[in-house]
Amino acid sequence: MAILGRLLLCFALWHILQVCRVSKFTNVECFNIDESFTNFTLCRLYAVKRDVVEMSLRVNIFRWPKRPVSMRLQLLKKASGYKPFLYNVCQSDVCEYLEKRNHPFVNIILNSFANRTNVVRCPLPREIILEHFRFPVKVLDLMPLPSGDYALFSTFSFEGKERALVKVYFSITEYR
Ligand SMILES: *[C@@H]1O[C@H](CO)[C@@H](O)[C@H](O)[C@H]1NC(C)=O
Ligand SMILES: *[C@@H]1O[C@H](CO)[C@@H](O)[C@H](O)[C@H]1NC(C)=O
Repeated sequence: MAILGRLLLCFALWHILQVCRVSKFTNVECFNIDESFTNFTLCRLYAVKRDVVEMSLRVNIFRWPKRPVSMRLQLLKKASGYKPFLYNVCQSDVCEYLEKRNHPFVNIILNSFANRTNVVRCPLPREIILEHFRFPVKVLDLMPLPSGDYALFSTFSFEGKERALVKVYFSITEYR
């Protein structure tokens, strides 16, 4: 009975938290640091309805280098400016990562938009597309974050230089 009671409580809490929490994208910025590597042709949010925002990105890859392309994912939280928060991970080879999918934090982020993008593994398509991506609320069950304003910076580099950068901003608001 104790177990059943706990299960019911969790179930009730889950519903309450889902209802009382609003998480949404607030801004997205894309940077072609190396204009011979990428060209973002679309990088924006769409307000679908109250509290529902979708993100769409399109980026042309002009030349995927023979050298490994690394990816850094950095989470930041706003507190008089955005400060590094909890996660700052670097995958030294995007292609190898896409084969192995062996980093828990990166998996959570990438799995959350797996069905909204044409990225599966290398070779990557010449045009990478992410469409109608809503904030993946289920991620917060795996990775609970307190209320606040956040940013996730994704930086792509090769040969020791940053080449492309996507900054996604989102907010989590809990009503108690
Ligand atoms: C990059 O994309 C823009 C459209 O967003 C286009 O006008 C421009 O010609 C493109 N640049 C290159 C080098 O293809
Ligand atoms: C895509 O995945 C998200 C999160 O897992 C899910 O909520 C959504 O229903 C999926 N959409 C489609 C079209 O499969």
